Amino acid sequence: MNHIERDVVVIGAGAAGLTAATRLKAAGRSVVVLEARDRIGGRLWTDHIEGQLFEIGGQWVSPDQTALIQTLDELGLETYSRFREGESVYIGTDGEAKRFTGDIFPASPETEAEIERLIAVLDELVEQTDPAAPWEHPRATEFDHVSFRAWLEQQSDDTEAVDNIALFIADAMITKPAHSFSLLQALLMAASAGSFSHLVDADFILDKRVVGGLQQVPLRLAEGLGDDVILSHPVTSLAWGADGVTAVAGDVSVSARHAVVAVPPNLYNRIDYVPALPRLRQQMAQHQSLGLVIKVHATYETPFWRAAGLSGTAFSPYQIVHEAYDNSNHGETRGTLVGFVSDEKADALFRLTADERKARILESLAAYYGPEALNPSVYYESDWAAEEWTQGAYAASFDLGGLTRYGALQLEPVGPVRFGTSDLAAEGYQHVDGAIRVGWRLADEILEEAGVNQTATTATATTEGDAA
Ligand code: FDA
Repeated sequence: MNHIERDVVVIGAGAAGLTAATRLKAAGRSVVVLEARDRIGGRLWTDHIEGQLFEIGGQWVSPDQTALIQTLDELGLETYSRFREGESVYIGTDGEAKRFTGDIFPASPETEAEIERLIAVLDELVEQTDPAAPWEHPRATEFDHVSFRAWLEQQSDDTEAVDNIALFIADAMITKPAHSFSLLQALLMAASAGSFSHLVDADFILDKRVVGGLQQVPLRLAEGLGDDVILSHPVTSLAWGADGVTAVAGDVSVSARHAVVAVPPNLYNRIDYVPALPRLRQQMAQHQSLGLVIKVHATYETPFWRAAGLSGTAFSPYQIVHEAYDNSNHGETRGTLVGFVSDEKADALFRLTADERKARILESLAAYYGPEALNPSVYYESDWAAEEWTQGAYAASFDLGGLTRYGALQLEPVGPVRFGTSDLAAEGYQHVDGAIRVGWRLADEILEEAGVNQTATTATATTEGDAA
């Protein structure tokens, strides 16, 4: 057994864990990062498939994501804009592909007006919602007890308008059916991006990409940490108490004053805590789960849709691929489309063979872009649900009522152990920006505790342990 002593042990080499480790190290603390996978980056993964560079995980940067933008600047990474010139495509209930410009889909005038009205209603509710504490909204309990879908149906009897508004949060963000999470969870999602309108505006939310890939963020952070990042070492046990922690990962054990568990909440229970976590913490993690989305890349010899006057942007709540974009890489002559298949549609596709699934997805792309979409040179499905150390995508959300029950608790430390990933973020929730903000927050909390009041950790542990 190789025994290491550090001030802080960080579990998980995703953007959150590496950001926390980098900040702690810069402040003079000794750190080590233990990572289960044989690669850096967690849900950020840029790779070549048949010679084509794909963003298998996260990729887009939006203007409100200032923590990510600051990090990109510090790491010397350049961005470029997503291709967006030309018309978008919408497929409504009639199954017909209609071209449009702007944000609002070309439905009947009544449905378009209804979509605008619902956006305004949601913007107002989002305005009242603090992403750092949505459970403090004066109507939080009521909003957390109604599903987003049921609430939308109470607001409007225009099914196409409801389907489209649901899409922006359910299919496109939380990647769970709109009947399975609460209105409050939907408000958190939108508040974390600044407004509901931001989620509707693809040019805002999917604005920029990083030249060479977004995984360079964690890769460069890890470079700065050198030998203090240890790959292929899943942490299996974490002993914690007044004197600190001991983490065990295969042939490595680390004793430290503090631990940062920077793994998504659905994986907390892959670690044996000694003693066990307080009962409410054990409960809490069972109410948080990841959504499910298949991210599909299809690369063609040319971006043929551009010649037809299309931007590549396409939406439909009624298609298997509910949204798709031009995802051609910076400086390439080939053209790449990226499409997304979410929640129950993904369940259905995973029941098919790989060939059948591919055929269904390409047919859906062809419905938007025409028959040329049926024959890509390179085709790839990101399958995060099959990844042992993630088990879904994009991120975690609470079930109905979970946010008001456990939202505040998830931010509290358990003695010397702190938990955090983008799944627990306020601004940038579910995004890399949020992962960075959480990394900063956890590092700052540890530094403050170490510098200001070393005994506070023990007091917190005792209080929570007793209460729970
Ligand atoms: P993350 O999950 O990345 O890191 C956790 C790490 O802990 C992993 O490396 C894991 O292997 C490790 N781990 C788990 N258990 C362990 C154990 N027991 N011991 C040791 N290590 C352990 N965001 C965005 O901003 N723009 C976008 O366009 C997208 N798009 C997108 C697409 C897809 C397909 C996905 C999957 C995700 C996105 N996202 C995104 C979300 C974004 O990628 C995500 O929010 C962050 O990368 C999460 O970073 P974290 O560090 O918080 O967790």
